[in-house]
Parts: sequence; structure tokens; C-alpha cells
Amino acid sequence: GLLEKVLQRPLPSVTHHVPSFRTLTEDVLSKVADSLEETRYSDGDYIIRQGATGDTFFIISEGQVRVTQQKSACEEPVFLSTLSRGDWFGEQALKGEDVRTANVTAVGDVTCLVVDRESFKQLIGGLETVSGNMCESEEEKASLEAEASFFSS
Ligand code: CMP
Repeated sequence: GLLEKVLQRPLPSVTHHVPSFRTLTEDVLSKVADSLEETRYSDGDYIIRQGATGDTFFIISEGQVRVTQQKSACEEPVFLSTLSRGDWFGEQALKGEDVRTANVTAVGDVTCLVVDRESFKQLIGGLETVSGNMCESEEEKASLEAEASFFSS
């Protein structure tokens, strides 16, 4: 399905460290895929507003988004990053407090897969299971453990 295609891409070119989800089992992926919603946005649409509350995680399946951030209420937003197909965002509000740390807007037409909090937990649970069980090398195991702790801390 679409989710598998997105997740099996080579590591995306983003500026912050990005776990890949490539190692998740079919079982975990199909559970998550069942509860995914595909949402479309047009150029300039706000997908996430800084300061808003939210509990959804987004994987870009088509198009590009811009991430910007206001340092304080009276300042203009500063450009942080451009993300594209296979990249994801919105994890911060799921990791700690549910307040969004940045703005994310569509650049042209964008399609995102939206993951809710429950499915997000299953993704993370999946990462932990994989890292505990079925790694071929110590190196692979270490990398999976890093992914799991990135999301669960
Ligand atoms: P969240 O705070 O839930 O919502 C805004 C999202 O923007 C945030 O999660 C991150 O996924 C993303 N984000 C924040 N800072 C950066 C950055 N410097 N580079 C790329 N993405 C970011």
C-alpha cells in the first residue's frame, strides 16, 4: 500500500535526525495503515500552527512543506526547513506537551498521511519490538534503539 511505499524510500534528506520506519514488520505497518487518513492541502495552507494543541503525526506522501517558527509573538516567523515526500513532522506535540513548536505550511499541492496518537504508539511499539528481537548486527540494533528512544523520550 501507499504507507509501505512511503516508508520504504531511502532516508529522506532533512536537516534533523530522521528515523526511517523501514524496519517495521508488516504486521505493525498494516495495523497503522488501517487507521491512517490521507489529507490534501493546497499552496499556503497551514497544516500545523505553532502554539496550537494537536495530537497527530504527519508523513508526507506527495509534495513539499515549509517549516517556520516565531521566536516570540511580535516577531515574523523564521524559515527552518523544507520537507518533502517520505519526510514526517508533528512528532513534538506527541512526545511531550501537546503544543506545536512550529508552523508547517504547504508548498503547492501536498498529500499527507495523518497518524493519530494511538497509531503513533503502535509505530513506536513496533520499533521497540524490532530492536529487541531480530537484528542481524549490533550496528542495526543500535540504530533501531536510537529510533525507538528518539520517539518515546
Ligand atoms: P510539532 O511541534 O508537533 O509541530 C511542528 C513540527 O515542525 C514539529 O513537531 C516538528 O516535526 C517540525 N519541526 C520543528 N522544528 C523543526 C526543524 N528545525 N526542522 C524541521 N522540522 C522541524
